[in-house]
Amino acid sequence: MGKVIIAPSILAADFSRLAEEIHRVEAAGADWIHCDIMDGHFVDNISFGPDIVQLVRRETSLPLDVHLMIEHADHYVPRFVKAGANSITVHVEPEAKHDVVKTLQQIREAGCRAGLTLNPETSFEVIEPFLGKFDMLLVMTVHPGFGGQPFRGDQMEKVRRAATWNQAREHKIDIEVDGGINQKTARISVENGANVLVAGTSIFHSEDYAYAIRELRGE
Ligand code: DX5
Ligand code: ZN
Repeated sequence: MGKVIIAPSILAADFSRLAEEIHRVEAAGADWIHCDIMDGHFVDNISFGPDIVQLVRRETSLPLDVHLMIEHADHYVPRFVKAGANSITVHVEPEAKHDVVKTLQQIREAGCRAGLTLNPETSFEVIEPFLGKFDMLLVMTVHPGFGGQPFRGDQMEKVRRAATWNQAREHKIDIEVDGGINQKTARISVENGANVLVAGTSIFHSEDYAYAIRELRGE
């Protein structure tokens, strides 16, 4: 599958100069901008909402990859669509309190790409019934809620299983990994079949964003 897509997570950016951070990371070669939305219920942290996504939209023409770590995603999807999201990823766990099939359909009907994701503790079998109904599988390589956690290599089995599913399909899904992605864990993820890499700390806490992104690509 083509080149590796790098999606910097602005969760690790300096919010006091967010516009500048977006411009810098775009100039450094980012492919998408990953927006982590946390509601303090589905995860124990609160990040930001549609207004900030809209602000990001005004600063870049890159695709916005919105990751909803929230309850009742179906209620909020229209707001993120309006804010300018290009892809919207929702959680499969029952604690996310929504009808997964309906929400995926809602996202696609709104003209966005639909993503489905699962926590490290959730087995691959839970997402299997939904394969074919979404465009991207996000494999969480940390427990969601906070940036800067160590990568969980045990999640690579899910990446491999998604890659195997893709082999027999004409319409392949993107396989995204999120959490603890750095030069070393990016290579491991790509070797196992991931093609979209989310990275917060390893890009925004580095001196040279372009260098960090090239390292993630393995260049
Ligand atoms: C985790 C978020 C991730 C996280 C990645 O809850 O979904 O996107 O911010 O950050 P790093 O790269 O710092 O692990
Ligand atoms: Zn994320």
